[in-house]
Amino acid sequence: MDKLVIDGGYPLDGEVSISGAKNAALPILIASLLSDQALNLQNVPNLQDIKTCTKLLSALGVNVNRDQSSYSLKANHVSNFDAPYELVKTMRASILVLGPLLAKHGEAKVSLPGGCAIGSRPVDIHIKGLELMGAKIIIDKGYISASTAHLPNRKLKGCRVFMDQVTVGGTENLMMAAVLAEGTTILENAAKEPEIIDLGNCLIRMGAIIDGLGSDKIKIKGVLSLKEASYKIMFDRIEAGTFMVAAAMTGGKVLCNNINPKQMESVIQKIKECGSKVDIHENSILVCGNKKLESVKIITAPYPAFPTDMQAQFMALNVVAKGANEITETIFENRFMHAQELIRMGAVIDIKHNTAITKGNGYLTGTNVMATDLRASASLVLAALVAKGKTTIERIYHLDRGYEKLEDKFNALGANIKRIN
Ligand code: UD1
Repeated sequence: MDKLVIDGGYPLDGEVSISGAKNAALPILIASLLSDQALNLQNVPNLQDIKTCTKLLSALGVNVNRDQSSYSLKANHVSNFDAPYELVKTMRASILVLGPLLAKHGEAKVSLPGGCAIGSRPVDIHIKGLELMGAKIIIDKGYISASTAHLPNRKLKGCRVFMDQVTVGGTENLMMAAVLAEGTTILENAAKEPEIIDLGNCLIRMGAIIDGLGSDKIKIKGVLSLKEASYKIMFDRIEAGTFMVAAAMTGGKVLCNNINPKQMESVIQKIKECGSKVDIHENSILVCGNKKLESVKIITAPYPAFPTDMQAQFMALNVVAKGANEITETIFENRFMHAQELIRMGAVIDIKHNTAITKGNGYLTGTNVMATDLRASASLVLAALVAKGKTTIERIYHLDRGYEKLEDKFNALGANIKRIN
């Protein structure tokens, strides 16, 4: 298993090109299941989760062709409707095949994702929504089996779905199912994340009729079939945010390119609050770190509020910044696993329920630490960049799931990171 060895203390300086968003690319790749025609995608990041996703799509019968960051997918010969546990357990987004398979083929069997390091992560809202659309769903031996065999033309029926909680995955699954349903579906209390808008815009390119993207009420009028389409995946907000925090923490100067700053507002606000200078351009953001780093108060919540996927990175920032502060996680109940590892590096963190109280002591020291999940790994990399001496981060396969060439990008900015096999 690969490890990263990071020698801390080098300020970052330069430009970084932000890759395509994992959290937009995965649902959009899966959207290919809705059509018999080709879906051509650009700006797909080269990540382990993308490989798992295309492996799953190929297993279902989708023809997948790749040329670097461009993919062409054609799902005109899908004959297998089962997403097995072996794939779903390594990538929770696999659950998103449920809606498209059911809408297109009237049948789907998908493993329940189960718990994961950051919390229990149920899928009851996905299931309830599909049931409201007329699907018969049975949960047995860890699998969700869904069918529309009893419905006229085996088609899901459009309806109004009020989601009890804002769910990104639930909104995506139901939006994709509704695209081929009979009649109109209204998703209320829908998630407003930019990645959902990106999926919706790709579906519109494919011929779907969708209104209200980016609001909490999305209206989808079902169509009979979709057409060939090309689409460029949006930038990765979390990768951009991670580099912005790195610039702030190291007192460096980093220009993040190929992004849309309008979709980064909550993170920009916090970077400014910690004392860094932020220059916003049309497609880039320049962050100039200040030697006097201030800690910031964070409360995670659905978009446009502060993203749960940036919480761990800001914890790394707070533990080396001035003053005590609070980080409250409202999306997942167990998303503070990085705190224990940061404490091993000298951080002062006190956890009370879903709030971590950080007391910046100004410095960390390098040691051996273990990555526990994707964003936790990023927070350890950030901590290691400013720690005294060498930090070895183990289990970085978590990092490879979601960050494209992270060490190469950091090294190009002046960091000293080695990957050891
Ligand atoms: C969540 C984040 C997303 C992030 C991703 C990966 C939010 C709203 N979602 O998306 O930004 O990129 O993790 O870290 O910030 N829930 C249920 N029943 C369901 C579905 C969800 O109770 O059927 C709950 C979850 O347990 C969680 C909350 O709703 O507490 C939001 O979950 P959801 O948005 O679905 O999670 P992801 O799609 O994984």
